Amino acid sequence: MTDKYRPLKDAFGRFATGIGVAACRDGAGAISAITINSFTSVSLEPPLVLWCLENRASTYSAFIATESYGVSILRADQQAASDRFAHFLPDGPREDEFEKWETGAPILKERLAGFDCKVVARHDAGDHVILVGEVMRFDSVAGAPLIYFASNYMQGTPSR
Ligand SMILES: Cc1cc2nc3c(=O)[nH]c(=O)nc-3n(C[C@H](O)[C@H](O)[C@H](O)COP(=O)(O)O)c2cc1C
Repeated sequence: MTDKYRPLKDAFGRFATGIGVAACRDGAGAISAITINSFTSVSLEPPLVLWCLENRASTYSAFIATESYGVSILRADQQAASDRFAHFLPDGPREDEFEKWETGAPILKERLAGFDCKVVARHDAGDHVILVGEVMRFDSVAGAPLIYFASNYMQGTPSR
């Protein structure tokens, strides 16, 4: 079956991005996690970020109800984590691979940067919802990023 959105996806996919894992607690307290490349920094004062969640995602009900989420930015060597949290692989999130900071949202222990966010706005946008978060705590370390480009992974190499 042909994908009628392929040409648009091909054009959107020419914008290279990093990759993050957004995670929250569902109503039962279990970790819900999804691989994302729609993460964007928005504002410094107050510190705001956003990412876009597809309405049909299996994690939708958890993220639409949560008051906080964590976003963990992946290193170049974390392609398997990206595949896992995109639900391409059967193994789900494990409690022991996440930390809890201010809000209680799960942050991956292995990361290039972490953002612990309080949800401050939700905007419907076509077949996605935009989840705006205020950053309550963050960190970052040096290292190479995992990159998504043209539906494929790349390992980023800093030029200096
Ligand atoms: C690199 C990458 C980036 C992705 N970015 C997003 C995103 O920003 N928003 C989103 O809703 N889904 C995104 N997805 C898709 C989800 O990770 C996931 O595959 C999708 O929700 C299907 O999972 P499900 O079958 O459990 O619903 C991305 C997937 C990959 C591999």
